[in-house]
Amino acid sequence: MIAIGSDHGGFDLKVEIIKHLEEKGYEVKDFGTYDPKDVDYPEFGLAVAEAVKDGICEKGILICGTGLGVSITANKVPGIRAALCSDCYTARMSREHNDANILALGGRVVGKGLALAIVDTWLETEFIGGKHKRRIDKIRDVEKKYARGVED
Ligand code: RB5
Repeated sequence: MIAIGSDHGGFDLKVEIIKHLEEKGYEVKDFGTYDPKDVDYPEFGLAVAEAVKDGICEKGILICGTGLGVSITANKVPGIRAALCSDCYTARMSREHNDANILALGGRVVGKGLALAIVDTWLETEFIGGKHKRRIDKIRDVEKKYARGVED
């Protein structure tokens, strides 16, 4: 199950991504927003990040105008590695090296065709582990240093 969420700045692109993913057979859980009215991106960044952190969804996709607000928010949640991508190379590397569990996109930055190619690349690429796992563990150490109540 893929969690997806956006604010108004990412709403139109979110609709296109949901359609695309459902056509490809993915199960998608939409955490809003559900219309283009002005809303606050942290609410959606948090909802998708918590669904991934809690294991309700394996991966998440977040979209706001730039992708910045939702990625900054999601990255505050322990265990979340949200990658803001505007190209397929970064999307691939964010999975291979960083084991990103959330993809963030800017609905006012990338067009539909590029966004869908980024989504496909990101979902189809596996984490390669090895020395990269050691680096992910060091990110976890940073979380533990600064967050209270973080569990392994
Ligand atoms: C909303 O206008 C815009 O600020 C938001 O979508 C996002 O780009 C924030 O980072």
